[in-house]
Amino acid sequence: MKFTLVSLLALGSAPVIRGLTLQKRASNSWGGGNLYFLHGLSDSDQEYYINTLASDKAKAVRLWVTELNAGCQKGSKVVSSIPDLEPDSIGTYNDTVLDALDGVLAKLVTKGIKAIISPHDGNAFGLNSCDVYGKAYGCSKSDSAGDSFYSSTTAKSQYDARMAHVLNYKSRSSGKAWSQWGEAILAFDIQNEPFQQAEDQASNNDPNDWLCGRAGNMNALINNSGVKLATGGVGGDQSHGNNLMPKAIECSAIDLISIHGYVGTANFWSSNLPSMESTAASNNKLLYVEEWGVTTSDTDNFDSQASAINGAGIPFVYWEFTPGPDGTQNCWTGCCTGYDGYEVGLNSTKGNVQQALQSAASRSAAQDWSGLID
Ligand SMILES: *[C@@H]1O[C@H](CO)[C@@H](O)[C@H](O)[C@H]1NC(C)=O
Ligand SMILES: *[C@@H]1O[C@H](CO)[C@@H](O)[C@H](O)[C@H]1NC(C)=O
Ligand SMILES: *[C@@H]1O[C@H](CO)[C@@H](O)[C@H](O)[C@H]1NC(C)=O
Repeated sequence: MKFTLVSLLALGSAPVIRGLTLQKRASNSWGGGNLYFLHGLSDSDQEYYINTLASDKAKAVRLWVTELNAGCQKGSKVVSSIPDLEPDSIGTYNDTVLDALDGVLAKLVTKGIKAIISPHDGNAFGLNSCDVYGKAYGCSKSDSAGDSFYSSTTAKSQYDARMAHVLNYKSRSSGKAWSQWGEAILAFDIQNEPFQQAEDQASNNDPNDWLCGRAGNMNALINNSGVKLATGGVGGDQSHGNNLMPKAIECSAIDLISIHGYVGTANFWSSNLPSMESTAASNNKLLYVEEWGVTTSDTDNFDSQASAINGAGIPFVYWEFTPGPDGTQNCWTGCCTGYDGYEVGLNSTKGNVQQALQSAASRSAAQDWSGLID
């Protein structure tokens, strides 16, 4: 009798054949949310956000090492001002922001949610802000304002020192350096949206080897602890076409490829994610959507874009789930300013957050995330 592959599988026998047919081990997918101001909220607002996301089966939250001003933020209240990590000059650190983030990590870890930490913003050369690096290397709205930051050897070592300061920060709750705290931290971005303000360098495949150079230095401090390194969305939104920049894909110190896309349609995700995933996979990287956002004027709403991303088996972190009302809800917090239009409140009819997260957590991922996300 001539066994076909199909008949052997139907017999449910032969582990050898199963091994051949299952080319990659699968894990479940996962979802989560961004909230760059979570570390500025009151303990009870932080707990409401984290507990709600945990019960919705979120697995990751993306946090930012960023200053915050006390006051209203997108339907929530930042209770006290938090200075930048380097408030006045490069290399002089104020750990208030790291202490605040460390408090958030302690809450997340007890709920089984891991953090992705953005340690600096590539839009700080004038687009989102103008921090000490912006003041030193360039600060305007232009696409090239950060050019000298990514090419200067002095800037590279200043940035390496900032990364070392962040990675070596010792958690007060776990006693571990963040670089070693894999139970709480899924990954560090190398930067949020590197080259967003040096667009030519992204399109020219990082001629100064900024990205992989920084990743190598960060990776040496991580020293195989289990904490991963993510690209953070090379070149900003994937409409610029640089999230899969060859030098990012080929860099052995990088583990995760982050996609950022504010794309408007579900079809974009179903058409593009499979090939992005196979490009990442063939270079030994895991791929996830680290930022995506939906406005009420988009062709396809939150639910249908979430369903397309989940259908591709690619994990996602939404920009952004807010604990307070989003701009489509009645304001119940008295604090409803500063929206960018992408927010989805945790109980908003703009999108079914719970369904998107539960659906991610219950289906097979295209890649194997086991050991990183449970
Ligand atoms: C750090 O920032 C906090 C909060 O603004 C401030 O109280 C503290 O004095 C600063 N520390 C240093 C060393 O400047
Ligand atoms: C890296 O980890 C290994 C194994 O735990 C250890 O022996 C080594 O000292 C570590 N290196 C650094 C630079 O921390
Ligand atoms: C959402 O939750 C908040 C806080 O629990 C509540 O005050 C608000 O009325 C809720 N809104 C809706 C639309 O359910």
